[in-house]
Amino acid sequence: MSGVEVKVEGLSKSFGRANIWSDVSLTLPPGEVSVLLGPSGTGKSVFLKTLIGLLKPEKGSIVIHDTDLVRCNESRLYDIRKLFGVLFQDGALFGSMNLYDNIAFPLREHTKKSETEIRDIVAEKMDMVGLKGDESKLPGEISGGMRKRAGLARALVLDPEIILFDEPDSGLDPVRTAYLNQLIIDLNAQTDSTFLIVTHDINTAQTVPDNIGMLYRKHLAMFGPREVLLTSEDPVVSQFLNGRRQGPIGMSEEKDTAQAEREMAEIDELSGLPPIKPQIEATKGLPERKAVARRQQRVRDMLHTLPPAAQEAIRRSQQEVADAQPRETVVGAAPYGRPGGEAPTEVLPRVGAPNRFDQPR
Ligand SMILES: Nc1ncnc2c1ncn2[C@@H]1O[C@H](COP(=O)(O)OP(=O)(O)OP(=O)(O)O)[C@@H](O)[C@H]1O
Ligand SMILES: [Mg+2]
Repeated sequence: MSGVEVKVEGLSKSFGRANIWSDVSLTLPPGEVSVLLGPSGTGKSVFLKTLIGLLKPEKGSIVIHDTDLVRCNESRLYDIRKLFGVLFQDGALFGSMNLYDNIAFPLREHTKKSETEIRDIVAEKMDMVGLKGDESKLPGEISGGMRKRAGLARALVLDPEIILFDEPDSGLDPVRTAYLNQLIIDLNAQTDSTFLIVTHDINTAQTVPDNIGMLYRKHLAMFGPREVLLTSEDPVVSQFLNGRRQGPIGMSEEKDTAQAEREMAEIDELSGLPPIKPQIEATKGLPERKAVARRQQRVRDMLHTLPPAAQEAIRRSQQEVADAQPRETVVGAAPYGRPGGEAPTEVLPRVGAPNRFDQPR
């Protein structure tokens, strides 16, 4: 199993006369991890529900495996939906079923597996999310974090090719969030599934995804390699990443321009963007994430189209990856520390372990 591409074009969604967002276009690259950010109420959850066909957009297309979900018939939509594993924002567990039955539910509903097979799969997924031994507990008897993890296990039982998580980290303490983020990367390494994660956690946004997008003012303000958003000087992005009160984003709606401008003057004295943190790597012993090499190639092809700060950040992070390679693979390349010390202009393909970068196109 490996991840599939999800291509969204010109998508618009309204409820009655209330437009939520318009003209959203993005491509989730196969097997990569993408994060969707945005202030509360901008329609992130609505976007996820639209992606799996639970909500119908007025305009646009969502293409997976050559099928447009917006226009296909019900039975095709039903089939395509089986490719998805979804963790809804509220966990959405059945209150009267114990954790085992909750997690087994999609298997009983969508497959013809025997109870013995189901038992093995449920045990594996519960172990994976740290819920071993809690099979007989009811959702009402466990903590919010445990409910999240149960929802996560349920999202994974069908071995989905596309995984959507709506705030998997909300309500988790920082240590559990760190475990969860590692789990997401490890899962991605094991499955090569395509991930889209909605989060408000800045640390998650900085360390987990390959790509980041942001919904703002009823539009997708940006979507692309993580370095683009993490180096953006856009005031909205900077306010969001720094978790600042000052800036264009208000508590309940967008602020009026005059107030935003007064505050922007204030921000000049505050810090700029936080430094880019390295992306989490898969736990040692697991297969390497296949998406890494594909993304490497993809980003290299688009590098010249990106803003200079993003290009610089990408070069630097590629260099750090290369420097972290075992010594013998770097010997001979020695691109840094050359006399004169100039940074190579094209570090992506040249350094690092050959098995990482020299994938066939
Ligand atoms: N089924 C629905 N019918 C009518 N309006 C809806 C429906 N679902 C969501 N909305 C509205 O769409 C807007 C976006 O909601 P959504 O839940 O997607 O926000 P969000 O970005 O996920 O916010 P948060 O970060 O707080 O979870 C809200 O104004 C909400 O009231
Ligand atoms: Mg939401």
